[in-house]
Amino acid sequence: MRKPVIAGNWKMYKLIGDAVSTALALRPLVSNANHCEIVIAPPFTALKVVADRLEGSNIQVAGQDCATETKHGAHTGEIAANMLLDAGATHVIIGHSERRQHYCESDTFVQRKIQAAVATGLTAIMCVGESLAQREAGTAESVVKGQLNGGLRGLTATDLNRIMIAYEPVWAIGTGRTATPDQAQEMHSFVRGIFNEKFGGEASERLRILYGGSVKPDNIASLMTAPDIDGALVGGASLDAESFAGIVHYNG
Ligand code: PGA
Repeated sequence: MRKPVIAGNWKMYKLIGDAVSTALALRPLVSNANHCEIVIAPPFTALKVVADRLEGSNIQVAGQDCATETKHGAHTGEIAANMLLDAGATHVIIGHSERRQHYCESDTFVQRKIQAAVATGLTAIMCVGESLAQREAGTAESVVKGQLNGGLRGLTATDLNRIMIAYEPVWAIGTGRTATPDQAQEMHSFVRGIFNEKFGGEASERLRILYGGSVKPDNIASLMTAPDIDGALVGGASLDAESFAGIVHYNG
């Protein structure tokens, strides 16, 4: 049985005070949720204080990105994976479509970041997903396959314990237009199939594949009925503690 994961991506929202009050409001709302793992990704500036305030809770903390380099050095503006770990993070989101689209992140970059994350002991939440034009052109699967092949290059079977995939179709992110459970299931099963080919049946059965793109309290339950959807990566609806708690409690 794969334990579901509900992760919140706060993106470039929340000053420190708001981040702390949201985290503290969330903590009691989800304290009895044992059916899933809960992760939130505050902006870097709030990561340490949020992690400190959540210590001893069932909420884990993620970075939203990390550097390709693991050794400290002259990399202005970058945050290394071990700095995230040092600040209290257990996870890191890598290759989010906003980084791929607006910050020119290539599959090679994503691959190096994943290597850096897993070598450091973080769990990487690797994002993949096609644009609307690619879906309409019928190339969604080949795009996702290319992203997986590029990003996962060089990983060993042991590294896979520290990898989750988030399938986030770009056309569903922040648009209010969610993929239907059938559309998501189809791609998730395709992704699991690729893992099966690359790493074997056991690794592919263990892999958690999250869906992301306009997940809300009122659509999570139907998404979670799909057999290959193992959780969600939530943007907008994770910014409010009650709404995110509503998603965590998708099972009623
Ligand atoms: P959304 O964002 O839930 O606001 O669509 C999801 C994401 O970008 O991870």
